[in-house]
Amino acid sequence: MITETRVKIDWDSLGFDVVKTKSMFKATCPIDGKWSEGSLVPYGTIQLSPAAGVLNYGQGVFEGTKAFRTVKGDVILFRPDRNAQRMAFSTKRLCIPEMDTEFFLDAVLKTVQDNIDYVPPYGKGSLYIRPIVWGTAPALGVRPVSEYTFMIFVSPVGPYFKGGVKPLNLKVSTQFHRAAAKGIGNAKAIGNYSASLFPLMKAKSEGFDEVIYLDAIDGKRVEELGSANLFIYKEGVIRTPALSGSILEGVTRNSVCRIASDILNIPVEETDVDITDVLKAEEVFCTGTAVVVTPVGKITYQGETTTINGNQMGSVTEKIRQTILAIQRGEMNDPFGWIFPVNQIFKR
Ligand code: COI
Repeated sequence: MITETRVKIDWDSLGFDVVKTKSMFKATCPIDGKWSEGSLVPYGTIQLSPAAGVLNYGQGVFEGTKAFRTVKGDVILFRPDRNAQRMAFSTKRLCIPEMDTEFFLDAVLKTVQDNIDYVPPYGKGSLYIRPIVWGTAPALGVRPVSEYTFMIFVSPVGPYFKGGVKPLNLKVSTQFHRAAAKGIGNAKAIGNYSASLFPLMKAKSEGFDEVIYLDAIDGKRVEELGSANLFIYKEGVIRTPALSGSILEGVTRNSVCRIASDILNIPVEETDVDITDVLKAEEVFCTGTAVVVTPVGKITYQGETTTINGNQMGSVTEKIRQTILAIQRGEMNDPFGWIFPVNQIFKR
């Protein structure tokens, strides 16, 4: 059992920032090859050709998952198998050699084990794990490049939004879309995040925390936030936008649906959610590996601001948040088999 960490970090002041750790994982693969081997290397900078596929044509995908220290002091991973499946999907979609799920899990495990001292103490945050795959061979014409690099770095993190878990102030974007139907919105492609930067910075300059994106077909249905999926609660039912192809299939999104229906007995509908439904909801919250479950307090749409639940976290949001945190921290039984103890990952 791991009860203490040996690195000097102010665990009480963690935000969502890069902290230098001991090591990172690195592997390479030719376009027609299979992912195999790879090793831990000291944490540090890397060298890339200026003509690398990722730098010129955005041929890159990533993942985000977390390791937690439980109430008993063990270190666990939360549903890394879902990230492995999504990485396989995203790599294939971006013409990167499809990553084998066992290879992904083994690399995540090795990286966490080698950086175990950076997993925050129980209740103080988590170790964010960032697997990334890039086209690293050079090319001038638009095409998948001949070689790929897979890396994993980790960083101890606290809350994603500055100021902790307070209700978010969101702006509905009517000027920009995040992703097109039949595009790459359902892959964890780096380009989806660069598309969100301009609307995000514009919203931040106006005092908002994040942006709600609408569908790119008729601009009526909500999709997601860019960094998180969206949920509403009204009259005893939870609703979240159905996975239409342009929405990322969040691991936390799926976990929240299961917790609500199987533990809290609240019906969940994955369906079309119009922006007008969101504005009439009793509670609105967003979910993601980074944001966990964060309440939404204010939404501005077409210049008008609606306050949700008096700008307070609602009781349903609170119950869902506490349940997922309790599972992740080992405070309650994991009825779903979501917890992967770091030292037993392949004994399941
Ligand atoms: C995550 O929640 O892990 C994500 O990948 C979102 C990221 C943009 C912070």
